[in-house]
Amino acid sequence: MNRTLGVCYYPEHWPESQWADDAARMAKLGLTHVRIGEFAWSRLEPRRGAYEFDWLSRAIDTLHAAGLKVVLGTPTATPPKWLVDEMPDMLPVGADGSVRKFGSRRHYDFSHEGYLEECKRITLALAKALGDHPGVTAWQTDNEYDCHNTTLSYSPVARAGFQQWLQQKYQSPDALNRAWGTVFWSMEVADFNEVELPNLTVTEANPAHVMDFRRYASDMVVRFNRAQADIIRAHSPGRDVIHNFMGRTLAFDHFAVGADLDISSWDSYPLGFLEDRSDQNDDWKQKFARAGDPDFQAFHHDLYRATSKGRWWVMEQQPGPVNWAPHNPAPRDGMVRLWSWEAFAHGAETVSYFRWRQAPFAQEQMHAGLLRPDSIAAEGFSEAAQVAGELADLDGELDDTAGRGDVAIVFDYASAWAWEIQPQGREFDYFRLVFDFYRTLRLLGLSVDFVPASTQSLDGYRLVLIPGLFTWTSALPDAIRSHDRHVLIGPRSGSKTADFAIPGKLPPALPDDILGVRVARIETLRADTPVQVSGGGAFQFWREFLELDAGTETVLSAEDGVPALVKQGNVHYLGGWPDAELLVSILQKLCTETGLSIRELPDGVRLRRHGNHVFAFNYGATSFNLADLGWSGEPLLGRLVLEPSGVAVTRLADAGY
Ligand code: GAL
Repeated sequence: MNRTLGVCYYPEHWPESQWADDAARMAKLGLTHVRIGEFAWSRLEPRRGAYEFDWLSRAIDTLHAAGLKVVLGTPTATPPKWLVDEMPDMLPVGADGSVRKFGSRRHYDFSHEGYLEECKRITLALAKALGDHPGVTAWQTDNEYDCHNTTLSYSPVARAGFQQWLQQKYQSPDALNRAWGTVFWSMEVADFNEVELPNLTVTEANPAHVMDFRRYASDMVVRFNRAQADIIRAHSPGRDVIHNFMGRTLAFDHFAVGADLDISSWDSYPLGFLEDRSDQNDDWKQKFARAGDPDFQAFHHDLYRATSKGRWWVMEQQPGPVNWAPHNPAPRDGMVRLWSWEAFAHGAETVSYFRWRQAPFAQEQMHAGLLRPDSIAAEGFSEAAQVAGELADLDGELDDTAGRGDVAIVFDYASAWAWEIQPQGREFDYFRLVFDFYRTLRLLGLSVDFVPASTQSLDGYRLVLIPGLFTWTSALPDAIRSHDRHVLIGPRSGSKTADFAIPGKLPPALPDDILGVRVARIETLRADTPVQVSGGGAFQFWREFLELDAGTETVLSAEDGVPALVKQGNVHYLGGWPDAELLVSILQKLCTETGLSIRELPDGVRLRRHGNHVFAFNYGATSFNLADLGWSGEPLLGRLVLEPSGVAVTRLADAGY
């Protein structure tokens, strides 16, 4: 594989006379890809039908002439004012019932058929005009679906669309009433057009109702993306279709959107995310303020790799301070390079920096680029140059793909919606739960793959984790049954039917031949009221009371004697949310039993196996000697003593694998 670097560029922000110089500097820096165009609708079509694509075509010519490959964005995240004025009901409506106005970006409602048609029209026009340009090698659909919480809209068009969607799903109001249990609180409907959206209710709406609304909203994102992908494929053949996902964004099913993409990409802002999207305490945030959370980027690399069958990019990589988090520190020297290499270690094809030059005007004027507003190289520039140089030396050595991870985690977007709808305890958040498992695996030096809940096979994984799964898919129980290595299920997995009810056979509701255990009741716990578990560690936030069949053994018990971890053959069930100590000890034990070698790492050091090599990264503030992990010889990149912000890569054999 040819691993490459890129950058996000806005030719419409700069005089045309500057483009050629910019392009030459990009190429000289070692960049090969440039993403452009994703917010340019007002310049591409200043008035209805008055297309002005010539400037874009000249921009592509200029970039192409410099040897750069263009990722062309469809401009549909920023509908222009004239279009919004023509159809004001395309604006999204917040849960509080107020219209989200024109004036920034993402001001559209995924349910709006008229806006969907407009997006098809501009995509078609662009694809016909520029789709065969030799400089255009890929497309980006829209920009960051759900950014600024834009998946859900509570508009009249969303209501009408939701009613139709329900009609198709349930066929009769009776079926809907049965599925949702609307007899409760006299919520029965006699016609689909009586169904309201689940916002502005006096107290909570029926969870099955909200769940269907979440599914509907996710389907609308899939529909929106697919409409563009189909047009691009038809009129710009041979180009990759890409979308740029975000971090900790769960409002739509990324596996479903990813199925229509050639490449999933995501926008990685490690310092912004640590400040803005982390559950960690202030000590942790302070410790990693200039490095980012050691697991947050990796989590998304691994997750999005799974959403489009292996091919993935970082479309936007933080190059310096951003503008949108509560605090926006500068990265520690070396971190931009580290983040770039870490993406490659997880199998990225391309890492593209956001953005080329800091804009002196408008909303993001405080956001760093590779260049300062005065075009002098900013700090990130030299780190990008260093990565380009190192790639040139190392790319040929590395395998094409990352290969299979040691452990698989089942990840499921519907579960995130379910526990948002019904947390039962304040801390019960699906992402947080899965992230706890993920971080612990990484602290044990393991490489992780994510698989969707629809997976048919778990073959090749010695350990599979299924935390917090809302409901079983038809395939997963069979995949578990035919898997002969360790599986760890729970907490809360299989605790609902697809209709958001408690299953008739109590959770986890697996066939007895797989797991003879029932969750007889649950309790949620204040953070200061953990339940200790024998052997060390505790359950926090969520705890279950398990009843076991004869063939199921207790592995660990809680302080009151209630089974905490149980097993039937290789299938384990965990009846609570483990704290860090308990989770480490459980995973250590399971790994040892299943033959996975673990390497306990300090907080800031992480490993990633990539084919026949292994990478090491130091997010911490002190050096770490990789010889302590059994590394020997001179690494291909970096040193055995891994400095803060250090990156090292060596052959598996030289790392004691
Ligand atoms: C991303 C977005 C970019 C830019 C960037 C700033 O979320 O896609 O357009 O706004 O954040 O960090």
